[in-house]
Amino acid sequence: SGKLTIAIDGPAASGKGTLARRLAAHYGLRHLDTGLTYRGVARALIEAGQPLDDEAIAERAARALDLGALDRAVLSEHGIGEAASKVAVMPNVRRALVDKQRAFASAPPGAVLDGRDIGTVVCPDADVKLYVIASAEVRATRRWREIEAGGGSAAYTEILADIERRDARDMGRADSPLRPADDAHLLDTSEMDIETAFLAACRLVDATR
Ligand code: C5P
Repeated sequence: SGKLTIAIDGPAASGKGTLARRLAAHYGLRHLDTGLTYRGVARALIEAGQPLDDEAIAERAARALDLGALDRAVLSEHGIGEAASKVAVMPNVRRALVDKQRAFASAPPGAVLDGRDIGTVVCPDADVKLYVIASAEVRATRRWREIEAGGGSAAYTEILADIERRDARDMGRADSPLRPADDAHLLDTSEMDIETAFLAACRLVDATR
């Protein structure tokens, strides 16, 4: 078929989100930032005053989540990432969200999905898989600049600690840990700007068509 699926995985603040948006616009595909789905569940639980570690309650919140109603501006808030990584360790939450993510990916004309388990679990048959990495220090610096540019303020050392804690939780969990798929292309953006990373990704996508 003419459908194109691009899977992008990587740790927090690796630049995969920006890359995914650029690729989706360039190839005329829809885009889903799957991190927003875990963030959406975490935020719904926090708003309802419910615990982040009760699997039955969190699964209900995951099943009720509307992918079309995810508010990036609200969910991107720094602190929600940590809460999201807590709900993301629960298999029944993951199953509920993966069902929705697969439904999104399967509609024509294809899609770019970015997250932690897209190439390994959500879209194992994706046409192109990218695994985007950068050193923790580079990622913390990027996040810090983003926060400052948005008018906020944050301590670099706290951001770095948050990123390292989240890496450990995401790579260490039993269900769908963050790791590259066997057929993923590694893209180290530590010393690349977004334009360079985008062009490198386009070459990989074009080579498959
Ligand atoms: O990508 P983002 O930082 O928004 O993701 C928030 C958290 O959601 C991650 O730290 C991770 O625990 C979880 N997540 C996941 N699987 C995905 C996407 C995100 O477990 N596909």
